[in-house]
Amino acid sequence: MPGSDVFTPPTSFSSQAHVGSLDEYRSLCRRAEEDPENFWAEMAEAEVHWFEKWSHVFEWNPPFVKWFVGAKTNAAYNCLDRHLETRGDKAALLFEGEPGDRRSISYRELHEMVCRFTNVLKARGSRPGDRAIIYMPMIPEAVVAMLACARLGVTHSVVFGGFSAEALKARIQDLDASLVLTADGGWRRGKEVRLKDAVDEALTDCPGVRNVIVARRCGSSVQMTAGRDHWWHELEEGVGADCPAEVLDAEHPLFVLYTSGTTGKPKGILHTTGGYLTYTTCTMKWVFDLKEDDVYWCTADVGWVTGHSYLVYGPLSAGATCVLYEGAPDYPAWDRWWEIAARDKVTTFYTSPTAIRALIKQGDSYPAKHDLSALRLLGSVGEPINPAAWEWYHRVIGKERCPIVDTWWQTETGGIMISPMPGAVPLKPGSGTFPMPGILPEVVDFEGKPVAPGGEGFLIIKRPWPSMIRTIWGDPQRFEQQYFSRIPGIYFTGDAARCDEDGYYWILGRVDDVMNVSGHRLSTMEVESALVRHPAVAEAAVVGKPHEITGQAVCCFVTLKQGASTDHSALGKELRQWVAHEIGPFARPEEIRFAESLPKTRSGKIMRRLLREIVTSHTVTGDVTTLEDLGVVTKLAAQHDDD
Ligand code: WT7
Repeated sequence: MPGSDVFTPPTSFSSQAHVGSLDEYRSLCRRAEEDPENFWAEMAEAEVHWFEKWSHVFEWNPPFVKWFVGAKTNAAYNCLDRHLETRGDKAALLFEGEPGDRRSISYRELHEMVCRFTNVLKARGSRPGDRAIIYMPMIPEAVVAMLACARLGVTHSVVFGGFSAEALKARIQDLDASLVLTADGGWRRGKEVRLKDAVDEALTDCPGVRNVIVARRCGSSVQMTAGRDHWWHELEEGVGADCPAEVLDAEHPLFVLYTSGTTGKPKGILHTTGGYLTYTTCTMKWVFDLKEDDVYWCTADVGWVTGHSYLVYGPLSAGATCVLYEGAPDYPAWDRWWEIAARDKVTTFYTSPTAIRALIKQGDSYPAKHDLSALRLLGSVGEPINPAAWEWYHRVIGKERCPIVDTWWQTETGGIMISPMPGAVPLKPGSGTFPMPGILPEVVDFEGKPVAPGGEGFLIIKRPWPSMIRTIWGDPQRFEQQYFSRIPGIYFTGDAARCDEDGYYWILGRVDDVMNVSGHRLSTMEVESALVRHPAVAEAAVVGKPHEITGQAVCCFVTLKQGASTDHSALGKELRQWVAHEIGPFARPEEIRFAESLPKTRSGKIMRRLLREIVTSHTVTGDVTTLEDLGVVTKLAAQHDDD
């Protein structure tokens, strides 16, 4: 049962930890709460290099915040240059490609790669304030691309390689990017994911893109448009590696990351430089207890926020050695991750509950083949971790020695918000436990009133923090409306939660029309819009359906236009493929159900709540594709919902 077991940090862990007791944790929290200005100023001075200091620590004009006002810094300088003297020869990246190629890249080498590539960007005409799209596989060049943009002050937006050309195009257009950094392809389960082809398809409608720079990864042949497209290695020929970092404002836009909201249009979450770096660097110590000789592995793709904050910026700013693996966990076999972890003597391993459940299904023999004794800390992110997955992770991977940090946060929060500090906080499996210092969450009701301990409600954050979202790119109204309107001036997370009598937070999931598939956010509306673009579809309603591995799976109810094919099996296949093509393979629906009509309220709103009930509790069983039963249920429920 969740909540019944408590795991106290082993003394061997606490005694060496940055934060080694509950008292120490509480005293950090007290200082941050009572005197946020001095607390964050102290953290910023200790963890980040500044070319110039701030005039004041933060300026809060809800919903807009500025941190370290007037200060100057550079994210790439913090991730590279400042380590050269003390850690120049230390490995920054331990890269392994899916085909088995390996590269260990020191801080000095990474610095040189980034400097040279920044010079390439300058020579192609990029300037601070420009925007670049990065659409790359998990190879060192992806990290170089991010850091080169950061070094020059070009705001980047990494688009996950699993997104389609359509999704890529929408992001290029919304960001008005002039530069696209990509690769010919990347390796996934032994096959090439042809990224450059998708870029070509996307760029048919993006006249603002002047340069496309292509890293060679797979060696296959690709189309190169003269004047626009260039090979990365050719542009680097003869280019020097002397390139001082731009001195940028603390609030300089570092990156935009698109995430699903409640409408069909993804929103560009904007993060800036100084506060983001301060917070991600601090949490590397607090949550991952990072030490000089740790080997840290976060399995997230650079296309998601976890890949930004805890694969690139946080760990490199903190001077960590990071494993970077290109491919799938099951290629060539289900022990690929454990093989890498054993070889690189990984000490800290951060992944998602989805991945853990997929691994459990393959049995204990895969991890048993490898020596995982270097591991000292495990992490989880993306969705609540169910007790069975927690128990397996703890016993089979961590050998009951390693604390598990269950980290709750969001693309918008920039960094981890609720998580145990592993040397200080007793764990309750399934709970993210307590907030980080300076983070003031609360569980509230519809009116914003605090809910008594043990009760469920909406999770809000009462105070601004350094790495919080600054705005939605190009849409400050939507920013305010989405996050600061339910309770004016207070950040609304979109999650439901419960805080128990001991102050432990339990995240219960989204309260909006956003699904969580494999720890990735996907909006029901986004999939619906994709479906209704198909010529056979009249209407579509999409809900998340519980799934044993991915947490939720995409389940679609569609009605067809007059004259559409009656071969439901073929059309179902086609629609699943269609959504994968429109959004990306990771959004491919698990199931398409054909209906005569969709349940709606009298005012015409589709009742996803009812459909969710149907897919969750199976109140309508058997061949639901006929949905006569559904018709009856929905009529009743529609009346109920409108009353
Ligand atoms: C949503 C944010 C933050 C990086 C990955 C996802 C859910 C995330 C947890 C957790 C329970 C979690 C929430 C949140 N979520 N971590 N440890 N326990 N739920 O980022 O795509 O912005 O999604 O993921 O529902 O709101 P994202």
